[in-house]
Amino acid sequence: MNAPPMLEARGITRLLGEPPVQVQALKGVTLSLQPGELTLLMGPSGSGKTTLLSIFGCILAPTEGELKIAGKSTKGMTAEQLAELRRSSIGFIFQAYNLFPTLTAEENVMLALDVRRKAVTNPRQTAREALINVGLGHRLKSYPSKLSGGERQRVSIARSLIGDPSIILADEPTAALDGVNGKAVMELLSKISLDTSRSVFVVTHDSRILPFADRIVRIEDGNIVSDVRQKRA
Ligand SMILES: Nc1ncnc2c1ncn2[C@@H]1O[C@H](COP(=O)(O)OP(=O)(O)OP(=O)(O)O)[C@@H](O)[C@H]1O
Ligand SMILES: [Mg+2]
Repeated sequence: MNAPPMLEARGITRLLGEPPVQVQALKGVTLSLQPGELTLLMGPSGSGKTTLLSIFGCILAPTEGELKIAGKSTKGMTAEQLAELRRSSIGFIFQAYNLFPTLTAEENVMLALDVRRKAVTNPRQTAREALINVGLGHRLKSYPSKLSGGERQRVSIARSLIGDPSIILADEPTAALDGVNGKAVMELLSKISLDTSRSVFVVTHDSRILPFADRIVRIEDGNIVSDVRQKRA
């Protein structure tokens, strides 16, 4: 892999909580995400997975260490600069979907265009195309409560991709889904990650996801303990 990484983390540590009950959630993590790769982060509960994902997503600052997104260090950036970096470069997918219940699938995706301050000539059409690309062309006008879990997660994938971010971060995207829907979501993430303008990083406990990955990173107690590349199925 010679392409420059999309994201580079060096010596990341993170303290959480207030003394005297502080936890060192990350103890010096060095990891790069390559374009066109789907990387899984696996590890026991409490090992620091969500903390690392939040740092990669510029939601949480590292205590020590450096993060570079597309070659640019986040060190010294203001809150507004970090927000701009998030809007332009990062898409998030959550276990609980985080869709607005009072907006249709199409409106949920349109809202993301707004949030990203993306100027497009026809926002509704752009949102529709994003939903068609995840196989939801027949659910444009549905509210989240009328969608299955798998369909909701596909709306959230369409939303994460709007504005074409180079890094997609997913925290347990299949945890609430049955086998069939979980597989459909992973097939979609797998397809998305084949695009070499993108890196996909998935935190999971779900060993059913393993075959979809190019790379499996394991974390224990705030340290990366293994990092293995494989040929995906
Ligand atoms: N706000 C907080 N204050 C203090 N400690 C925290 C806080 N948030 C998380 N922690 C601790 O930091 C450690 C790492 O938490 P993190 O949420 O990153 O784990 P995780 O690997 O995502 O776990 P899970 O698989 O259960 O989601 C845990 O020991 C957790 O208890
Ligand atoms: Mg977590």
